[in-house]
This record gives sequence, C-alpha cells and structure tokens, in this order.
Amino acid sequence: MPFVFDINVLIEVVLEKNHYSATQTLLSQLQNKGEELWLPPAGLAYASSILPTTQSHEKFSQLLQLFSTLPYSAKEQQALYQQSPQNYYQQLLYQATLNYLPHAIIITANPMTSTTDNIKIQTPTTALKQLTSPTDFHPNQFDFIDLKTQQRQCLPEIEYQIHQVLKHGQYILGKEMQQLEQQLATFTQVEYALTCASGTDALIMALMALDIGKGDEVITTSFSFIATAEVIAFVGAKPVFIDIDANTYNLQANAIEQAITPNTKAIIAVSLYGQCADFHVINDMAKKHNLAVIEDAAQSFGATYHQKPSCGLTTIACTSFFPAKPFGCYGDGGACFTNDEALYKAMQAIRVHGQSQRYSHDRFGINGRFDTLQAGILLAKWTLFVQQEIPNRQRLAEYYNQALQNTVTIPYIAPENTSVYAQYTIQCPQRDSLQTHLQQQGIPTAVHYPIALHQQPVFQHLNTATLPIAEQLSQQVISLPMHPYLTKKQQDNVINAILQFFA
Ligand SMILES: Cc1ncc(COP(=O)(O)O)c(C=O)c1O
Repeated sequence: MPFVFDINVLIEVVLEKNHYSATQTLLSQLQNKGEELWLPPAGLAYASSILPTTQSHEKFSQLLQLFSTLPYSAKEQQALYQQSPQNYYQQLLYQATLNYLPHAIIITANPMTSTTDNIKIQTPTTALKQLTSPTDFHPNQFDFIDLKTQQRQCLPEIEYQIHQVLKHGQYILGKEMQQLEQQLATFTQVEYALTCASGTDALIMALMALDIGKGDEVITTSFSFIATAEVIAFVGAKPVFIDIDANTYNLQANAIEQAITPNTKAIIAVSLYGQCADFHVINDMAKKHNLAVIEDAAQSFGATYHQKPSCGLTTIACTSFFPAKPFGCYGDGGACFTNDEALYKAMQAIRVHGQSQRYSHDRFGINGRFDTLQAGILLAKWTLFVQQEIPNRQRLAEYYNQALQNTVTIPYIAPENTSVYAQYTIQCPQRDSLQTHLQQQGIPTAVHYPIALHQQPVFQHLNTATLPIAEQLSQQVISLPMHPYLTKKQQDNVINAILQFFA
C-alpha cells in the first residue's frame, strides 16, 4: 500500500516537534512491512530552505532515502499553481497523489476536508492506530498483470534513465542500448546480443540472417502465439507444424525427425509459458540433419535449462520485451542472441535495412531498430527483475501449485528446467465455465491459446494432419493472474474461487 507523506511531517521528525514521535514509529512500522513511501514533488526545495542546521540537513537526507518522489510534470504543477496559488502545496500533495496513486494514504498534520476519491487522508497518529487494527488497508484491485505496482518499485531509476536519454538526445540505438546489449549477453552467457524493435522482428531477423525463404521449410510447434509461425510465412518459407509434449506443452522433440524433408532448413522451438523446450534433444536432431535451431524465447527470458540460461542454447534465440512479458519495456522491443559472429553481423545489418555502411545496402533488411528510451526502461528494471521478480514468480507459482494440485492439472516443470512463469497456466476440461465463474468473481484470466496454429484460418491451406495434443490443450488451458507483485490475499481469492467451482 502506498503512503504519501506531507513534507511538513518529515520536517517535524527532523526538528523533533509536534507529531514527530508518532511519525517516527509509523515510518519504522511501514518500513518493516515493506510498504511504499512517497513524497510529493517540489517539497525538497521547501524543506531545504527552512531546515536550520547542517545536522538537520544530514538527518533529512537520511530520511529521504526511504522515499520515492511522485511524478508530476512541471506543466501540471504550473496549472495547479495558477488555479490555487494560496493553497498550492496542499493541492499539489493531493493532486499528485490522485494522479499516480489513486488508492494511497496521505499522512499529514493538517488533514484536508474529506474527499470522494479513494485516497485516505490521516494524521500520523490515526494511521498508526489503523496499522495495528485488523482493518485492511489494501483495496481489492485485481490486474491480470500489474505493471503499475512494478513501476512504483523502480520509478526513480526509470525517471533517471529517461532524463539521461532526453539529455543526450540519441533516441535510436543510443548508448543505453549498447549497455543493455552487453548486460543481455553477459546474463545469457552468449557472445552477442542484439536488441530490436519487437520479438516478431527478432524472429524475422533470425530467419533472414539464416537465409531462409521461398522453398524452405521450418519445423515448429502448433501451440504458440501466432508470431512464431507467421514469421516463417512472412519470409516466404513454409511452416511445418508438429505436436507438443503433453506435460510441458513444448514442441515434441522426438516428433521432429519424421517432419524433416530435403527442404527443411530450421526448427523454431518455443519455450512456452517461461519453460525451455528440450534443447539437448532438439539440437542433436538438428546437428544430425544440418539444421539451424531458433529458440523463440519471447516468454522465457530469465529461465534456465540444465542450469544454462534461456537464449543461450541454440543457433539464435529471440526474445520479446513487450510490456506484459517477464522482462518488459514500455512499448515494443525484442532481442536476438547468438554465439555466431557471422550471424550477428548479418542481423546487425538486417536491423537497419541491410546496411553495412551508411547508405550502402548489401542485402535486404527491415527497420528493426530499438528505441534508446526503451533500453533505458529495461536498464532501470534490470536489478529488480533479476534479484526479486524471477524468484517472486517462482514462489507465487509454488503457492498456486500447493493449493491447486489436487483439483486441476498444474504446470509441469521438467527437472532440468527453472521456469520464469510468463504465464501460470492450468488445464481442466471445464475451462470455459471455469473462466466464466472466475470472471463473475472479478478474477481476470486469459487463454493462451484458444486455437492451435495449424487450425488458424491463415494456415488452413497447409492441410496439416490432426495434432491431437495441441488441439485438446487449446480447449482446456487457462492462465491465472501471474505477476511478481500478486499479494497472498489476491492469490487466495483466485484459489478459493477455483476450489469453490470444483466443490
Ligand atoms: C511465443 C511468442 N513469440 C513471439 C512473440 C512476439 O513478440 P512481440 O509481441 O514482441 O512481437 C510473442 C509475444 O507475444 C510470443 O509470446
């Protein structure tokens, strides 16, 4: 739950005046509970102008380390000042909170008259009392993927990165992108990481670098997002769909061989829902038949297979930084990964219209460039993702597993894998009525994916034979709310609603 502090109550703490002892206790309790602490914008200049001694400035600086500052643009501040110059600070405190944290609690010594919004305004003393009472501070908000809570964990870093880019003005392929590519390569233990405009572009760039086109065939799974197969058709090649493993839902590695023809050039294996496909078997098969392997790692960045990171397991890997992905930016984005220098150079050229030198084009390419601002966003999220979000996702999945294992088919993670749980997807024959039941209880769900790829209208002309597991799963899977900031209460709501459905 976010708490926004009036700068005046912090000044009281520093000067040991009025409410200072209640505020101090409140702050330490909120800190222990891991609650979010915020300050309104523009308070710091005011505080620094009235604090009397060096010692008080030092104490204030220490206090500040607990807080993030609410975003509120200069333009918005000016408009507010024009509306109410006399009451500006109080209005700023309130409006900046309403703008960004509409369910927050404002802590102030002078509570304004009550409002009709969801914001509560309390003195340090009343907030302290309420903290120790059983009243629930947390609203019953429910998002399938909650990017707002995540943003609040790293907002100062995001603002810093955005301002760095605004300052240097290199909006495309700037230095943040280069730094990100280095970090991506180190994290995935590959020689080369190349960012690009989307996960779809990453796959297109990979196929183009491998010179796959008309007359070629690419073997792939029938149970994935459309982009996996669409890109094969986009470069002029033919997707050859095979069925999936009934436990992991990833491509059936031992079904590859019978799908190979003299035209086969590559295999695209998806690491679905955050768990890697069985790449030892897939790579062995590819080696035997001289095929390239592309990992579609759009959902698995951060996962491991035999202790090796996803994206470092195949000829080329491609990931997506779409906002809802485990590691997502604030727009579209993606990356390719490889250990092969020639392929890296080819993809680097393809990313900018096949350009090897300025305005000299040796091959065809695309506009696949990544925005520097988006690279900055990912740099800002990096530590949080690696240190907290991956383990959080795994812990939350384990909690779902324990509660649901006797009621529905829970995700099966192969012993050689760790999943990053892009989705927590269960399977049950009554999928559609379960989804309606959960929707009636205000619980958002999604179906990944309701139609197997070979059954999509655009691929009907391929006349693919029945792929029974993919077809059955498309009727039975349902993804539950999953993001690193799900609360226990929210998870319990989901679990109880499912248990009630099957009772
Ligand atoms: C398995 C898979 N492949 C490819 C993509 C395409 O990524 P993007 O949306 O970044 O183009 C996605 C994204 O949803 C995906 O889930």
